[in-house]
Amino acid sequence: MRLRPVEVRGHAGFGDGLRSRGPSPMSRSATSTAWTSGKTCRRTGAASAICGSSARHCARCMQGARRERTMRERTMIEYSNDLDGLDARELEGFLAHWDFTPPEGTLLTMLKQSTAVILARDRASSKICGYVAALSDGVACGYVSALEVRPEFRGRGIGTALLSRMTDRLDVFGVYLSCAPSMLEFYRSRGFSSVTALCKRRNT
Ligand SMILES: CC(C)(COP(=O)(O)OP(=O)(O)OC[C@H]1O[C@@H](n2cnc3c(N)ncnc32)[C@H](O)[C@@H]1OP(=O)(O)O)[C@@H](O)C(=O)NCCC(=O)NCCS
Repeated sequence: MRLRPVEVRGHAGFGDGLRSRGPSPMSRSATSTAWTSGKTCRRTGAASAICGSSARHCARCMQGARRERTMRERTMIEYSNDLDGLDARELEGFLAHWDFTPPEGTLLTMLKQSTAVILARDRASSKICGYVAALSDGVACGYVSALEVRPEFRGRGIGTALLSRMTDRLDVFGVYLSCAPSMLEFYRSRGFSSVTALCKRRNT
């Protein structure tokens, strides 16, 4: 198929202020040049910027639909700090990323003994899909001791929401945490920066 460049203008209909997850030919500026198949979007009439697509929707339209789906999914998650009646069975399957298998009930004990806990619950299934826990002196220092989201709920912004809610909740001068090197970018892109830290671990 022969492609030719066209000028593409942004169009209304989706929240342009929301964060984009990937590069898009249209996200560089309100007016930009994109390669087109010459077909038009069924919804907006804008030129399709997806090379070789069926051109039912333009790239911006598809991006907007993805954002709307994410927002919809987010509203289906309830965040609370209420541990009353929480049963260890509701927490089964968590702590799978630890390098050893902890005794049953470990997570429930951890959560109950933390200074602050936020649970994420899927409204539809009532399942706990994630949690964040922290220890704090209430003024200077708060430590995010655990953050986890069940695998099937990952990539929907729940981990980010838990972290951000916990940071607000702690309301201290410094929020600290430790993580695997692979997680550095996750935390950096959410406002954390590296500091020098030491730790002494008990052999498990
Ligand atoms: C880390 C974790 C809480 C993220 O939860 P989530 O709901 O998927 O998070 P979000 O949807 O808000 O964000 C997803 C981001 O996490 C990143 N991510 C998830 N797991 C990652 C890993 N192991 N290494 C690096 N980045 C990871 C994704 O790349 C994505 O990054 P981006 O948004 O910048 O593209 C979840 O993957 C998890 O529970 N992992 C296992 C437990 C764990 O490692 N906890 C952290 C201990 S420090």
